Amino acid sequence: AGVFTYDPGFTSTASCDSTITYIDGEAGILTHRGYPIGQLAKESHYLEVCYLLLYGELPSAAQLEEFETLVTRHTMIHEQMHNFFRGFRRDAHPMATMVGVVGAMSAFYHDSTDINDQHQREVASIRLIAKMPTIAAMAYKYSIGQPFVYPRNDLDYASNFLRMCFSVPAEEYEVNPILARAMDRIFTLHADHEQNASTSTVRLASSSGANPFACIAAGIACLWGPAHGGANQACLEMLREIGTPDRIPEFIARAKDKNDPFRLMGFGHRVYKNFDPRAKVMKESADEVLDLLGIENNPTLQVAKELERVALEDPYFAEKKLYPNVDFYSGIILDAMGFPTSMFTPIFALARTVGWVSQWKEQLADPQLKIGRPRQLYLGAAQRDYVDIENR
Ligand code: CMC
Repeated sequence: AGVFTYDPGFTSTASCDSTITYIDGEAGILTHRGYPIGQLAKESHYLEVCYLLLYGELPSAAQLEEFETLVTRHTMIHEQMHNFFRGFRRDAHPMATMVGVVGAMSAFYHDSTDINDQHQREVASIRLIAKMPTIAAMAYKYSIGQPFVYPRNDLDYASNFLRMCFSVPAEEYEVNPILARAMDRIFTLHADHEQNASTSTVRLASSSGANPFACIAAGIACLWGPAHGGANQACLEMLREIGTPDRIPEFIARAKDKNDPFRLMGFGHRVYKNFDPRAKVMKESADEVLDLLGIENNPTLQVAKELERVALEDPYFAEKKLYPNVDFYSGIILDAMGFPTSMFTPIFALARTVGWVSQWKEQLADPQLKIGRPRQLYLGAAQRDYVDIENR
């Protein structure tokens, strides 16, 4: 038997090498292919960042145009998938629907499930990135009993998603370009984050040779939890529950109480121990969007800002290096745009799809790829003899 390291939660285990995303948690640095996230969020846009993550370099104008055309050509989903959607309960959480529908893409698009074929890998990647907004919007429409809205390929990625969510047959939704820009920025800020839980799940699933749609469905399932992507929904619900700044001390006390499982949602990060660079951009974006919509004195934003201030001054949070993370302010923007909290995590999932796909492709290209197979520290009973049921 070999010697292995016991590392619960993989706090100090590197599971792969990668050239996609770099994080320096102490310095609050996040780069994709070397480019800082702040610059990408403000100066680039989501589909360009998708190209960068997938292919390693920023595209030329011609490459970008070709890529955007490819993505917009694949936004429709197979018409038969509509029936699949209709099998879900109306009140299903859109994440539950997405786990099922994305997993089922392997049945609807089995022509792109051969992972040994380079071309098919490419087709599967594009299909996933292109169809995810359609699937997320359909999950939403279905949950509120409205008809599905077909994608419009002349719109940009974010505008198309907003329209698919908010248009109704009786009234075409006019996409506000500033809101579309804020949506795009949310997508960009969530695009990839190296070997987080859902990405590691995708890599682990794929290490057995599973098909891409099943692997991404596994990632969506993992993302759903409140310690990971589900934090954006949980955070806004918490801010609403707090309601007014005078109740903040009560919640801070609960977060510090070892006997209370309550945590400040949107606070803390496994890797960032100084600040989350994504949160900074997200906070600016929240101000911009509320400004644009003329929402003054938004009570949730007031609670968020005051909570951030109080927590950052509190020695408990300082000692444990707990800072607002990307999800602390994203919910405020999504809420102002009109999304219900149940759509927050699906939006994270659609944005993270490019990260999962890029990491999946990188892993498959690794000549040293092995099935992921962690070991364990066994603490159970020593070997013993089976006892007949009458003699127990
Ligand atoms: N509120 C109160 N205390 C906290 C919090 C929090 N949000 N986060 C961590 N702590 C405490 C924790 O109780 C522990 O204390 P002690 O050392 O006394 O036992 C200490 O800080 C370290 O926490 P940990 O759970 O060992 O740290 P971790 O790296 O395993 O967890 C985390 C990281 C993000 C899961 C955690 O900070 C958390 O649960 N945060 C709230 C959920 C959240 O916002 N998640 C989104 C993360 S960013 C987006 C994403 O990745 O999807």
